Amino acid sequence: MMTENLQTLFDQAQHITFMTGAGVSTASGIPDYRSKSGLYSAKFKGLPPEYLLSHDCFVQQPEMFYDFVKENLYFPDAKPNVIHEKIAALCQSGRASLITQNIDNLDRTAGNDQVVEFHGNLYRCYCSKDGEQVDWHDYMKSMYHDTDHGIIRPDIVLYGESISESALQRSMAAIEAADLLVIVGTSFKVYPFAGLINYRQPNAKLVVVNNEPIPAGSVTAQYSGDAETFFAGLKG
Ligand code: OAD
Repeated sequence: MMTENLQTLFDQAQHITFMTGAGVSTASGIPDYRSKSGLYSAKFKGLPPEYLLSHDCFVQQPEMFYDFVKENLYFPDAKPNVIHEKIAALCQSGRASLITQNIDNLDRTAGNDQVVEFHGNLYRCYCSKDGEQVDWHDYMKSMYHDTDHGIIRPDIVLYGESISESALQRSMAAIEAADLLVIVGTSFKVYPFAGLINYRQPNAKLVVVNNEPIPAGSVTAQYSGDAETFFAGLKG
């Protein structure tokens, strides 16, 4: 259940910045990465998923990369859940901002056109040869661009690649604007995302909503449990 204390923190905040991860989309049927049933618990063809999602793999074994990404990351039928929806409504009203690590497009589907997609978006693809945008449906049919036979890729940040300058700038602005930071559904192990909280205002409050403890330092309050239940109970 939503505790009164947490609801009060939300009610009193001038500007809330949410930082989310794969745990906000598990309720939509998309596995996370590091839970027991997460993507990283499996090995594919004897290779670790961290390699399969790396720039090196994309360049050196593009077919392997394509097969892995297509079979394990794309969930085009997944629908946003109450977490995406409530965060989107708060962002639309101007009271909140969202920085997500997720690449699943569910925040946009929920109507959040302000979201900072820190690790990119699977449903935006481009040809690595000529840079032209390619519809993701075409990528699902072939990894080769029909016009120049270049290799298509999703616009996501692979291991060994850096975060775009604009995502970094927009994220820091959102963190600095917040008097309440709410971290939801992330193991908070991946940098530079986890380092963003160092840019928070000295008086900003920090809330964690996650079903296991995370290394976020000293937090004002935390909800240890299912994020979907928490957001279903959140008013306003
Ligand atoms: P993780 O899988 O590392 O963490 C998800 C967290 O959410 C875990 O702590 C889960 O216990 C928790 N969780 C899952 N479902 C939940 C629920 N319904 N309610 C509450 N908590 C829940 O995923 P991320 O932290 O998002 O990067 O992973 C960060 C990055 O690592 C990803 O963006 C991805 C990956 O490598 C790239 O691919 C670039």
